[in-house]
Amino acid sequence: MQIAYDLLPRNKRQSPPGRDVNLGFGLLRTNHMFQMEYADGVWRNACILPYQPFSIMPGAVCLHYGQTIFEGIKAFRHEDGEIRIFRGDINADRLNHSARIMCMPPVPPDLQMEAIMRLIDVERDWCPVIPESSLYIRPFMFATMDALGVRPSTTYVFCVILSPSGPYYARGISEAITLLINKSFHRAAPGGTGSAKCGGNYGASLRAAEEAHSRGASQVLYLNTDNTRIEEAGSMNHYHVLADGTFVIPTFSDTVLRSITSLSVLELAEAGEIKARQEDIPLEPFLKGISSGDIIEAGGFGTAAVVSPVGRYCLEDGTVYTVGDGGVGRHSLALYTRYSAIQTGKAPAPEGWLRTVPRYS
Ligand code: PLP
Ligand code: COI
Repeated sequence: MQIAYDLLPRNKRQSPPGRDVNLGFGLLRTNHMFQMEYADGVWRNACILPYQPFSIMPGAVCLHYGQTIFEGIKAFRHEDGEIRIFRGDINADRLNHSARIMCMPPVPPDLQMEAIMRLIDVERDWCPVIPESSLYIRPFMFATMDALGVRPSTTYVFCVILSPSGPYYARGISEAITLLINKSFHRAAPGGTGSAKCGGNYGASLRAAEEAHSRGASQVLYLNTDNTRIEEAGSMNHYHVLADGTFVIPTFSDTVLRSITSLSVLELAEAGEIKARQEDIPLEPFLKGISSGDIIEAGGFGTAAVVSPVGRYCLEDGTVYTVGDGGVGRHSLALYTRYSAIQTGKAPAPEGWLRTVPRYS
């Protein structure tokens, strides 16, 4: 499909932030976005246009019934000056997985990638070079049909916005976070939407996250609905590290998002670089493992979170489990360093992991 350009004149564009600015996560926007519409069974009107509000009807399905999905991807500026997108093709496939679960139309993966690459090409100057920073890419789709009957929309908008961002947790890799293990709130149930990146999963997590914050924790570590197994955190998969340095990640299921960071870690393990595997993680043995020292490190994996070590778990009754010395462990730090080196081009990337943004103009 032809992608049209409707760009701001250069003298009307905002300048990217300087190197000394604290970017935060997801706060800044670039000058343009990508947008296209779906109606009558086809995507049309693909365009890169100035970042601006949408005009949608008050009865739009997304506003009432939450038919919205999104992705999170990162692009990095490498030393040769080129910008490379990390594993965006897998995100494009996952967006279509989410679309299937939410009864939304797929977006051809090549079209998703071209939209992202053309948008980044226009916004090259916004890709930060500061350590622990990247250009965060947020593709998303929402239902626009003006109808109050509960059924899938027949019309949609797919959009991509960009945000130059620093680490998801303000202290980045330098400080371990705390997770609340909460048996009262659940993120996903079997047969539900847990493996989709749909807005509702995140809306439903806010109350539990507020509870976590009020107890000094950064996020909730969700359990399965009978509170016997560890599933994942609000915006990252979970891992723990055994004494021999093996990373153990809970098995993917229809209640766990198939994290591209976890998949990448498992691929590094297949290539023999590290030790990692997936398995079901029963809660009680996990807690005992922390107390006995069999579990020496733990943390979360995610695009935004990268590798975020967890130093403490607190339970609703106030019990606290400290992992190792509560700080950032050496295996987590080494994995973070290795992963970031691959993303930023300081170490060779496995075949196909990075895609260079072409210079279209
Ligand atoms: N789990 C949830 C619920 C998330 O929101 C995310 C973030 O995208 C992840 C896991 C990590 O997935 P990924 O590594 O693909 O970013
Ligand atoms: C990401 O890691 O890209 C996410 O989408 C997590 C988030 C909800 C900020």
